[in-house]
Amino acid sequence: MRKKTLLATGLLLASSLALAQTPYPEDATYRALGGKEGIKKITDTFLELVLADPRIKDNFADFDIPQVNQRLQEQFCEYAGGPCKYTGKYRDKTMDGVGTVRDMKSVHIDLKITDAMFNALAEDLQLAMERHGVSTYASNRLIAKLAPMQRDIVTAAAPPAPTRPDMGRLLATGGVSTVEGSGGGGISPWALITGYGTRDSWGGNAHYTRVQTQDYSLGTRGVAIGVADRLELSVARQDFQGDLAPLNLLRIQQDIVGLKVKLTGEAVYDQDRAMPQVALGMMYKKNKGISGLGALGVTNVKQLGAKDDSGYDYYLSATKIWLERSLLVNGTLRATKANQMGILGFGGDQGDHVKLQPEISVAWLAHRTLAIGAEYRRKPHNLGVDPEKAYYDVFAAWFPNKNMSVTAAYANLGTITVFNPKTQKGWYLSLQVGM
Ligand code: HEM
Repeated sequence: MRKKTLLATGLLLASSLALAQTPYPEDATYRALGGKEGIKKITDTFLELVLADPRIKDNFADFDIPQVNQRLQEQFCEYAGGPCKYTGKYRDKTMDGVGTVRDMKSVHIDLKITDAMFNALAEDLQLAMERHGVSTYASNRLIAKLAPMQRDIVTAAAPPAPTRPDMGRLLATGGVSTVEGSGGGGISPWALITGYGTRDSWGGNAHYTRVQTQDYSLGTRGVAIGVADRLELSVARQDFQGDLAPLNLLRIQQDIVGLKVKLTGEAVYDQDRAMPQVALGMMYKKNKGISGLGALGVTNVKQLGAKDDSGYDYYLSATKIWLERSLLVNGTLRATKANQMGILGFGGDQGDHVKLQPEISVAWLAHRTLAIGAEYRRKPHNLGVDPEKAYYDVFAAWFPNKNMSVTAAYANLGTITVFNPKTQKGWYLSLQVGM
């Protein structure tokens, strides 16, 4: 069974990597934008949106907009692989009158552009392309070319201690809430910091998730905040219940406190680098005991063979967003002793060592507001009464706006006890609301 799962995961990864390597003609993006004519329509709409956008319109007040429009058309056309050359309005004239084109840094340096402003402009461009019927795939490819310019264009920090979160990151780039409360996919934490706060701000959210299999249900509720796009703090309560007699009164609760620190990399801006965004995380888990098995005298997971009712998970996550291919790939390596995430305690009669367990998530960024993917999470097998297997799921996460996301998945939780050999499969539904 484990071999089959590994094979399936291998195939999933291989197919996404194959997709990532499929060659495409150099000017495919240019053609998808509609050639020069299409690009002109896009920049016209783009600048209309920018000049009406309260987040950034004031920056453009004193500038020659038709000139900027012209230069943007050249630049987008060149970056999309079209037959154009960005000339640049501003030239440091030399004696021969040729001069050099001012680079993006010198064009923007006096404008004191922040991360949130940069992303606001990128969002306006995404919307402009969408209005002109450009596919998400082509739109992501143009954004992929422009994203690394953040390093030259963003030269300012927002005013200190903003009272409200800036919601300044791009849609979906905080991930959703995992069943353990941290930001990521549904069952695996990612290196992304939860919420939409940029490095100058913070963001927070609350979530409720329910997984319903044939014989059990798991509800998780929690809150999380991301600070300065660097640090994430989360608290969550898991509530596991049995639905099938004689376990229909079974109830196990667990509290989880999570901490995550981004170490390096920029998932969105580093489109020109192989380096993923990398984060280190920790979860402290405290099992609150068992109810509903009083007749058997079982009230604590230790009576089922677990060595402890609390424990720590440590993990290292690497997330790569390939906008060129509209793909997100995350790999997490977790050091853990937890049985069924800790719901059945930590360590047991079959083993009481910390084990390294891989987790993999792959998502296709099908639309600005939609990610469709699959996840796999391997888990240790420490308990004789629980032939623990890997979790996996296929999911669709919808981000109608930055204040909410809805994730629906079909999850396979494997077998949970020797007393019920049925593989537990079922629906997973999660709602996250945030600011
Ligand atoms: C991916 C992000 C960006 C790209 C690709 C970009 C591109 C450009 C280009 C090609 C020009 C024309 C320069 C020239 O005349 O040669 C320009 C000018 C300008 N950009 Fe940006 N820009 C970006 C972000 C921003 C942001 C975030 C702001 C402000 C919120 C901004 C404000 C301006 C202004 C005001 C000008 C006119 C400057 C002048 O004429 O001196 N840009 N930009």
